[in-house]
Amino acid sequence: MSEHNSTKLQIINLLKKRGQWVSGESVSRLLGISRAAVGKHVAALRAEGYLIQALSRRGYLLKAEPDAININAIKKSLATRIIGQGQWYFLEKTPSTNTQAALLAMEGAPEGSLVLAGLQTEGKGRKGRGWFSAPRGIHFSVLLKPPMPARRLSLLSLLACLAVQKTYADLSGLDVRIKWPNDIIIGLKKVAAVLVEASIVGGEVEWAIVGIGCNLNSTYEEFPENLRVSASSLLQETGKTFSRNLVYKELINNLDFYYCKLLQEGGEPLVFEWKQKSDIIGKELRLTAGGQVVEGKALKLDQDGLLVIADKTGRQHQMEVGDYSEKEV
Ligand code: BTN
Repeated sequence: MSEHNSTKLQIINLLKKRGQWVSGESVSRLLGISRAAVGKHVAALRAEGYLIQALSRRGYLLKAEPDAININAIKKSLATRIIGQGQWYFLEKTPSTNTQAALLAMEGAPEGSLVLAGLQTEGKGRKGRGWFSAPRGIHFSVLLKPPMPARRLSLLSLLACLAVQKTYADLSGLDVRIKWPNDIIIGLKKVAAVLVEASIVGGEVEWAIVGIGCNLNSTYEEFPENLRVSASSLLQETGKTFSRNLVYKELINNLDFYYCKLLQEGGEPLVFEWKQKSDIIGKELRLTAGGQVVEGKALKLDQDGLLVIADKTGRQHQMEVGDYSEKEV
């Protein structure tokens, strides 16, 4: 073992043994290295996935060890009919799992195929916005081929939100809500989000990619400053860390449950459940649709998953969730 690696191991062992804050001064004295060297080793350990908090007056605290994604273990733990029954790809680092999954779809990959990433460098959000992929989180996309018209695409986003909401609520015991159209929130903070992209042929869905990003084990400081007021993670909300393999298992099982329900029973039961987990109905909103701003009261979610809002003249507008492109037949 190189000297560098053995010092890193000594630091980890020390932090583990203490199980509480250890001052930089103590680490430096016990290991016979400078404070600057301690800082460098801690940075290297963080890059390997250790979650080490640092505070100037208190020193270092080990909050979590690397949580490697184990595809075989996740696969074995699933009880699904469609999702996870196609091809699996794990990429340590990729620009966007949605982009990768779309490439697979164009190559004819089967329904239920999955692309999982350790980290995304250019995660995509709705309306061309970016998505910050928090470290030690979940970033993945599933390929679906539902036999449905494009106008029902919002149902895919809705079912993915239901699956994430259930997973977060079961794991944390907290009041987790769905914020229309595609966010999962705890209190006022966003802890996960969904992005559905699809290929449409002759008004029908040819394939759809459901991308899900979950903030799991990231700290306040790890979010960019401009997101710190609006974003959070399960770690921040509960003080506990969550195994990514366990969250993948629960989430993929839940996704499959809601997707099979949609195929068998249609959108109505999903819309019913969604209404209980979201508090948008009755609220005054200001939304942009097709470049136009619509202001009005949220009346209901219709059977296709579209939000119906009434403007002040009483005219009703149906608002979609999905971002999709019309393809020439
Ligand atoms: C949003 O904030 O509007 C949606 C964000 C969705 C992020 C997920 S992370 C996995 C998948 N890959 C992407 O590039 N985006 C989605």
